[in-house]
Amino acid sequence: MRSTSSFLIVANRLPVDRVGEKEWRRSPGGLVTAIAPVMQRRDGAWLGWTGAAGEELKPFEDDGMHLIPVPLSEREVELYYEGFSNATLWPLYHDVVAAPVYSRVLWDAYRAVNERFARAAAEAAAPGAVVWVQDYQLQLVPAILRRLRPDLKIGFFLHIPFPPVELFCQLPWRKEILEGLLGADLVGFQRPGGASNFVRLCRRLLGLQNSRNEIQVDGRAVRAEAFPISVDFGELDQLARDQRIQLRAKEIRAELGDPEHLLLGVDRLDYTKGIGQRLKAFGELLADGSVKPGEAAFVQVATPTRERVAEYVKLRGDIELRVGRINGEHGMLGRQPISYLHQSYRRDELAALYCAADVMVVTPLRDGMNLVAKEYVSCRHDLRGALVLSEFAGAADELRQAFLVNPYDIAGMKRAMLAAMRATPHELARRMRSLRRRVAGHDVDRWAGDFLSALESPASNPRSG
Ligand code: ADP
Ligand code: F6P
Repeated sequence: MRSTSSFLIVANRLPVDRVGEKEWRRSPGGLVTAIAPVMQRRDGAWLGWTGAAGEELKPFEDDGMHLIPVPLSEREVELYYEGFSNATLWPLYHDVVAAPVYSRVLWDAYRAVNERFARAAAEAAAPGAVVWVQDYQLQLVPAILRRLRPDLKIGFFLHIPFPPVELFCQLPWRKEILEGLLGADLVGFQRPGGASNFVRLCRRLLGLQNSRNEIQVDGRAVRAEAFPISVDFGELDQLARDQRIQLRAKEIRAELGDPEHLLLGVDRLDYTKGIGQRLKAFGELLADGSVKPGEAAFVQVATPTRERVAEYVKLRGDIELRVGRINGEHGMLGRQPISYLHQSYRRDELAALYCAADVMVVTPLRDGMNLVAKEYVSCRHDLRGALVLSEFAGAADELRQAFLVNPYDIAGMKRAMLAAMRATPHELARRMRSLRRRVAGHDVDRWAGDFLSALESPASNPRSG
């Protein structure tokens, strides 16, 4: 077994979750979807939590990756993961769509766990290694790691939005978070707006000088730049062309009674995803007769996530009530307009769903990127299928040929869903061709390559120039 690595990913979660004693499966979310294929192609190590409280495991290999577990106690899961990460930072960074909890106890746990991750990374990294720290759960790691190991090249990528100055300033520990991120040589964001928010905040709150996207700190230059994340287009395109997936897609449509229009939503069951808004719009289309019962079916797959955080418990209740009401009012014996699945699906089943769906409905109230939108496009080599996409998802910057919507505007969403259902094959093909061109040309390898070459370029660190 190796002792240190020259390329290290540091993320809150390992890319696998435990199922049973010895088995592991891919853990949920966009971060893992994007980085797992990159890691499988590089000989590095991935440091993160296994997803179970109180578990102390030795490093192991799985799915072609070297994995180094970092333990979290039951209380740390509650205070650092469910608490500061997902009840404070998550809502604050997503436009405050739920009220963030500000608590010193949560902050102390966040600091302590970030310190542990940084120490583990310092031990696992070879001299001069590249260490790539991921996401909002670990924003203090870059500075701690630099203190412990000044020889390392440190990159940081934020997978979620970075908020505007007015919102970020609510955070009682705003300076500490900025100082934590400034330990990196390169700080990556999904959108240019995130990078400029960060630069502006460093100027305003820390009084640092910058020249465009380079911030001067302690005699170093820290670069802040946008790198829109993506999916493995080639792998998904190939998967979707597989006969078994095509057959399964037909089967899914048949199981749903071969509706004229099949609409699909695939998300973690998160209040940022606008699931309630899209179901409301669909329910109104049925209620006002724009769509006849039996003419359209809506499949909503909602992966369980952060199930003990109060806002998520409430959301589940709200969504299940709404689904029940719509099905109760517009269903028929043995046929419901909405199929709601509170489950995680295998990748091939998801691909079959993408191939089966006429309209993919992706309507987050705010989203760093949204990989589901890009996965759908990657699976539609037949140039059929329409993407309804929120203008508040990072993906909307690139996927301009989607049917773009404001998820707060229910009437606008109804119009967009109808337009997507009624579009001619010619229009659908024109839009899908352009969407696919974009994703194919900007896939996950390009994202990782762009980030890592920027990290290693001399411009990002004048000491090496
Ligand atoms: P987030 O990172 O907020 O979860 P993204 O849309 O960027 O949102 O990424 C979600 C990832 O999780 C995608 O790769 C998607 O395929 C996967 N996913 C979402 N829902 C499910 C599900 N029910 N079963 C399996 N994978 C899912
Ligand atoms: O992309 C956002 C993100 O929070 C990732 O950091 C995370 O891996 C994913 O969503 C899933 O969330 P969680 O790890 O809390 O289940």
